Amino acid sequence: MTAARKIIIDTDPGQDDALAILLALGSPELDVLGITTVAGNVPLALTEKNARKICELAGKSDIRVFAGAIRPLVRTLVTAEHVHGRTGLDGPDLAEPEMPLQKEHAVDFIVDTLMAHGENEVTLCPLGPLTNIALALNREPRIAPRIRQIVLMGGGFFEGGNVTPTAEFNIYVDPHAADVVLRAGVPLVMMPLDVTHKALTTRARIASIRDLGTKVGNACAELLEFFERFDEEKYGTDGGPLHDPCVIAYLLKPELFKGRACNVTVETGSELTMGMTVIDWWHVTERPKNALVMRDIDDDGFFELLTERLARL
Ligand code: BDR
Ligand code: CA
Repeated sequence: MTAARKIIIDTDPGQDDALAILLALGSPELDVLGITTVAGNVPLALTEKNARKICELAGKSDIRVFAGAIRPLVRTLVTAEHVHGRTGLDGPDLAEPEMPLQKEHAVDFIVDTLMAHGENEVTLCPLGPLTNIALALNREPRIAPRIRQIVLMGGGFFEGGNVTPTAEFNIYVDPHAADVVLRAGVPLVMMPLDVTHKALTTRARIASIRDLGTKVGNACAELLEFFERFDEEKYGTDGGPLHDPCVIAYLLKPELFKGRACNVTVETGSELTMGMTVIDWWHVTERPKNALVMRDIDDDGFFELLTERLARL
């Protein structure tokens, strides 16, 4: 058996972040070195607490959770309580966490971990605004060639945006951080709205998760039912898009996704299109291809994988 792939999850839980973390913790192919948290869906004090709640729900209180950036590099923090609820994890009644928050700052943990490993050993999985990752790259540029891959949820092109007509939430919250990451020369895989909007939490899929009959299955069903109400109303679909678990699913089964290598640039100048990811899908420029951008998903395969891994927790 090949060694488990080492990952750091950088996150702002968030119900869909929670499902992504649980998918990773239920998968023996992945070795979660740590979970770093960032301000995004809700402020940092809640995202770090939510990450610990999720680890405890999974029965994995040995996972180390670190708090990172309290606000974006340049812009004022924008949060999304209207989607995720006041706590960021509205839905189930999860216990207050008992496991400690690590003392080290998330950015230090990312830098130190990468410097302590060889090249191509550690993969970063950002599920929120890219502030911590950009800070780490700026603080210690020697980490860039050591990162095996950054697989991130963010951006959108064909689908437009979900927080402005042109911008997706994670990129919009910290477009300057996204700019640093997109220019870092690290192999990038991007899960934009174009693919995550095809991963819908239909009633039948949530029922399969609830039918697991476990504490994790019940909590996940409640998280998803709360989470989908906003997007169901907005898009008129059966279910809402399950964004962040696409990142972890890609690590486990890349064949579930289809995309192409493109140049991706982010808008940081115009207020009208702030945070828009300009994806050169048709290769109409000579700009270098800096990201593998996903557009299609085997959604049945994705939900089968998710449900099967949740069942192991
Ligand atoms: C992204 O924004 C957040 O609200 C979700 O957790 C996801 O990471 C989708 O735009
Ligand atoms: Ca997120």
